[in-house]
Amino acid sequence: MTETEKLFNYRSGDVAKLLGISKSKVLDLVTKDKLKYEEQTEGQQYVFRPKNIEAYLKTLREKGKTEVRIISLLNIKGGVGKSSLVIFLATILRKMGFSVLVVDIDKQCNVTEFILGDKAPTSKQPYIKNIFRQDDLSIEEIIYRGRDGLDIIPANINLARIETVDLGDFTLFDDYVKENLLHKYDYVLIDNPTSLNDMVKAVLISTDYVIPAVIPARWSLDGFDFLEETINTLNRQYKMRRETMILGTICNMLTVKKSRKHMKKNEQALMMLKDSGEVPYDFETAVPNTTSYAQVIENEESILEANIETKYKKILVDLAFEIIERIHDIEKELRKKPA
Ligand SMILES: Nc1ncnc2c1ncn2[C@@H]1O[C@H](COP(=O)(O)OP(=O)(O)OP(=O)(O)O)[C@@H](O)[C@H]1O
Ligand SMILES: [Mg+2]
Repeated sequence: MTETEKLFNYRSGDVAKLLGISKSKVLDLVTKDKLKYEEQTEGQQYVFRPKNIEAYLKTLREKGKTEVRIISLLNIKGGVGKSSLVIFLATILRKMGFSVLVVDIDKQCNVTEFILGDKAPTSKQPYIKNIFRQDDLSIEEIIYRGRDGLDIIPANINLARIETVDLGDFTLFDDYVKENLLHKYDYVLIDNPTSLNDMVKAVLISTDYVIPAVIPARWSLDGFDFLEETINTLNRQYKMRRETMILGTICNMLTVKKSRKHMKKNEQALMMLKDSGEVPYDFETAVPNTTSYAQVIENEESILEANIETKYKKILVDLAFEIIERIHDIEKELRKKPA
């Protein structure tokens, strides 16, 4: 087994975290043969693989027992790693056994080009704009299968043409989600442009969890208030399936290895962010600034197959785990509250 495969080798406790259930429930599912395992260790511990998780989740979705979680990587400040994080997290969630759809609403098409390469749509082929024009397209026509088992609703540079247009109806994306995606995917990850145009707002109202990224410099917080205000306003205006909330901020591009002086500066900046209370619920796992990540994007490689140190893959796996666990915690709380 490769070092990378080992990152996806699960014990009962890990499966409990991935599925948001207790460890005893995991063991119960195994006893009832609803959840298959790969092998048993000498110490009688079960070992699971992503395909086991995948098979179990598939049965849940088919019975309509799980609903998609829609996650938007969204910032007002650009260049902080949104597109890279969408690509990395989507790849890892998919590898873990989840069914994942990526949605690109950025005319720059970074994520589309990475996932689809030569298969990226021309302006004549279906892409995200068709959803906003209410074109009668089947789900197969607008969802493309890309690398690493990822599905994507792609973007095209011609989005620039409708980006500035008043949408009128903000619920078009939500209608599409309800009709087509609710029990088809476990996670939808959306890559956004840096503006809050009508299309972004339309997607935002059906987003469950917004994840902004920050880089450890004071100015990367610019626009954060505006983002929160916009979310609050949209929540008041539109009563959707769920309220949109900020799940947590990812601290990206943390410099850890350069000169001591530089490291200190970055760490201080990060501490300042945390202490300021302006960055809500940041994740424990910070993403370091490393050419390894930049190269993977630049070379259009799979993060899992790339020849980079395993520790860099592990950081992203840890981050994915943190995101999943936080979502499960929130959903547990929501279930307790009366509707
Ligand atoms: N952790 C990291 N370490 C090093 N380089 C990174 C890291 N994350 C992202 N980058 C690089 O930083 C640049 C910007 O990243 P990316 O395009 O993902 O940001 P973005 O927020 O989507 O930008 P935009 O606002 O233009 O959409 C890219 O060249 C990317 O390879
Ligand atoms: Mg981007």
